[in-house]
Amino acid sequence: MAGLFDSFTLKGLELKNRIMMSPMCQYQAKDDGTVTDWHFVHYGARAIGGVGLVMVEAAGVEARGRISTADVGIYSDDHIPGLARIVEFCKLHGAKTAIQLAHAGTKAETPEPNVAPSAFTHFDNYKTPQELTIAEIAEIVEAFKQAAIRAQKAGFDTVELHGAHGYLINQFLSPLTNKRTDEYGGSFENRVRFPLQVIRAVKEVLPADMPLLMRVSASEYSEDGYSMAEMIEMVKLFKEAGVDLVDVSSGGSLPLPPPAIYPGYQLQYAEEIKKGADIPTIAVGLLHHPQLMEEAIQNGRADLIAVGRELLRNPHFAKTAAIALGAQLELPNVYKRAF
Ligand SMILES: Cc1cc2nc3c(=O)[nH]c(=O)nc-3n(C[C@H](O)[C@H](O)[C@H](O)COP(=O)(O)O)c2cc1C
Repeated sequence: MAGLFDSFTLKGLELKNRIMMSPMCQYQAKDDGTVTDWHFVHYGARAIGGVGLVMVEAAGVEARGRISTADVGIYSDDHIPGLARIVEFCKLHGAKTAIQLAHAGTKAETPEPNVAPSAFTHFDNYKTPQELTIAEIAEIVEAFKQAAIRAQKAGFDTVELHGAHGYLINQFLSPLTNKRTDEYGGSFENRVRFPLQVIRAVKEVLPADMPLLMRVSASEYSEDGYSMAEMIEMVKLFKEAGVDLVDVSSGGSLPLPPPAIYPGYQLQYAEEIKKGADIPTIAVGLLHHPQLMEEAIQNGRADLIAVGRELLRNPHFAKTAAIALGAQLELPNVYKRAF
């Protein structure tokens, strides 16, 4: 079995190790969605610190699909140069790069009206959304596709669809948020229709050797949400449509915290989906202990480990983990004197 510091290859994507910087909104973009020097420094520092894959935070495929007006956008060609500068620098330091393509739907906080599968929200702090028409759904599918084209123009090695945390794709999948009575709601087949259309549209414009990643919420923490068995069936369809690697998170459809939070609290979901749908997975969620990360990889419970908050605390966490595990990880020459 491979270990945390062994390389990982999926189609044309080759990572030097199995640590991914988890996507984390920085709320540092300009109102027009362009990135700032904050992003350049923030992502560049983690590339220098040795992670195998730098995943740029949720980037709105539409202006109204951003969580806030300080979110990164990928809905205009004007967003490409700033992103390309980040990609170029990260690559120079041996990290591969990805960007998360997102639409917040109900959970957007922009001056524009919110849109969603159905015209209600479970959250007090969000505006009541407008129900998307069939024509508008098609426009958003196209927006994801155009965003994937822009991601490639910026030089990203791969893209991830944000299908988790109660954002638009998740809103369609979940019986908690999708109360439509047309072909996009109701039955399992109807609830997966929009996500599958997005996957197929994005896949059309990705080179054959570029893997497609998708983040899902494996549990909605509610008996009225989808079950793990249903999630596995969804992932099988996503795989058939072109998803190569599933990034397994949880929650977000309802204003509920996870039932318990402990190191690796979502790891069992990554393992169940990996085995149930026979697809590589990324595990995330308080996986900040090198031995626990190594255990998850060596025992084949997940293929990559995404690290969030620990990388906010310590940009060189990958090096810290390598030292703890007695593994090799090259940092730039001048930093070697510090480790
Ligand atoms: C500041 C912050 C911003 C986040 N933004 C995103 C995001 O843009 N997209 C996403 O899928 N998850 C986002 N998350 C969730 C993280 O990617 C990750 O799944 C979560 O923090 C659990 O991992 P950790 O315990 O290693 O931090 C965010 C988390 C934090 C702390």
